[in-house]
Order: sequence, then C-alpha cells, then structure tokens
Amino acid sequence: MISIKNPAQLEKMRAAGHLLHEIMCRIREVIRPGETTAAIDAFAEELIRRKNAAPSFLNYRGYPASICASVDDEVVHGIPSDRRVLQEGSILSVDCGLVLDGWQADSAFTVGIGKISPEKEELIRVTEQCFFEGARMARQGARVGDIGHAVQKLAESHGYGVIRDLTGHGIGRNMHEDPSVPNFGEADRGARLRAGMTLAVEPMISLGSWQVKEMKDGWTVKTLDGSSCSHYEHTIAVLEEGPPEILTLPGYVWEKTER
Ligand code: MF3
Ligand code: CO
Repeated sequence: MISIKNPAQLEKMRAAGHLLHEIMCRIREVIRPGETTAAIDAFAEELIRRKNAAPSFLNYRGYPASICASVDDEVVHGIPSDRRVLQEGSILSVDCGLVLDGWQADSAFTVGIGKISPEKEELIRVTEQCFFEGARMARQGARVGDIGHAVQKLAESHGYGVIRDLTGHGIGRNMHEDPSVPNFGEADRGARLRAGMTLAVEPMISLGSWQVKEMKDGWTVKTLDGSSCSHYEHTIAVLEEGPPEILTLPGYVWEKTER
C-alpha cells in the first residue's frame, strides 16, 4: 500500500528533508584526500544528533553506521571504516538518512576526491541528470515506470549501466515504504502516482555493466566488472500539479522547459 501524506505530514517531511540537505552540504565540505570514511560518518552522526534528529541507517537491520560511504566500484552500502583513507582520483558516494519528529528523509550524492578523470566527472554529472530526468516524471497521474524509463533512457544513451538489483522506494514514517522505484523499465507501467506520495528516487549508474555482487561483510555492494559507480538520491513529494517538490533540495525550481 502506498501511503498518502496530508499537508501537515508533508510539512514534517519537508522539515526532515531540509535538515538533511543542510547536513549533506556540511558533509561535502569535509571530504578530501586523506580523510577516512569513519571520520565522515562520525561527523554526520554528530550533526544529526545536534539537531535533535536520529540517524535512520544506524542499526537498520543491523547496519553499523549513520552513512553509507561507497568508493569507486562500490555501488552502495559501503560501511565506513577508519582503515578506509580517501585517495585522490577516487569517487565517493555518501548516502545518509535521518528521522525528525517521526518522519524520514533520505539522500545521496557522489563526489570526486581531489582531481578525478574526465570519465568519472561525466559519470557523476550524468547520474545527477538521470535523477532529475526521472524525478521530473513524478507528477500526479503518471506511473512509477515513467521514472525508471526516463533514468534508463538517459543513462544508456551514454553507454552506462543501470543498476537493477537496488531501487528507489516510497518513504514516510518508514525509510522504505511502497512502492519500489526501479531505475529502469517501461513507461506507463506500475503504480499510479498521486499527490501526497513521497518517494526516494536514487539512480545508481556504472561506467560498465549493471551487474553487482555483495561482499562478505553482508552490506557492501560492488559492480561485478569492477567499473566505477555513481549514486544520487533525493526524497521527493508528488504535488497536485507539475513536477514534484524535492524535499531534500530546498528552493529547487524546475526549469520552464519541464514537461
Ligand atoms: N539509503 C539507502 C536507501 O536508499 C538505505 C541504506 S541501507 C542502511 O535505501 F542499512 F544503510 F540503512
Ligand atoms: Co533510499
């Protein structure tokens, strides 16, 4: 069942989303060569708690940290470690979620460590573009498949792989709610979108193939072919009309060219 949030509930999700945005911006500022992923995790947890929110990832199905920190061929769910020192030329995906006043927000970005190859720069840029192409489809009356179809079309036009084993999701009082939001598929298929639905749209795009494997730690997911992967995620709300509000990107205005 897909839950519909009323305006008062949406206001609470907006507050959670705006807080997560603020925290993601602060996290970006401390990412640099020589930093460990454990230090970034500790920093994130401290920021979240200082704002009277709670880290939603910590202890989720036994997950041991407040962020996921996934480097290069790690797709998602990289566990922060004090042995993981960020190296110039790598790309790092940071995924973070929090709960404020009972309502969830979930967001991720990928960033280069120091100077990175033009190939990786392009991957990060296109993954973000995939998010916006997919998310803009989330209008009242559209269907979940419209989102994934748009993501896949753009990603594959660049020759990239679209990760299939992991998807976006509904979000609200719980981090993961219905519906599942794949980053691939056919347009005009799947659940019908209605105003008040809130979704986490999160393309995971690789330089190579879409196939992945899970590591022995039970969490880290890597590309099977070792190609680098980028991840970009926001929590959005479907509105009565027009493209959605991006709850984790306060003040974002869709371009006039939006369909
Ligand atoms: N943010 C992830 C998602 O988008 C969830 C991370 S799983 C956790 O679904 F265990 F790390 F929380
Ligand atoms: Co998510």
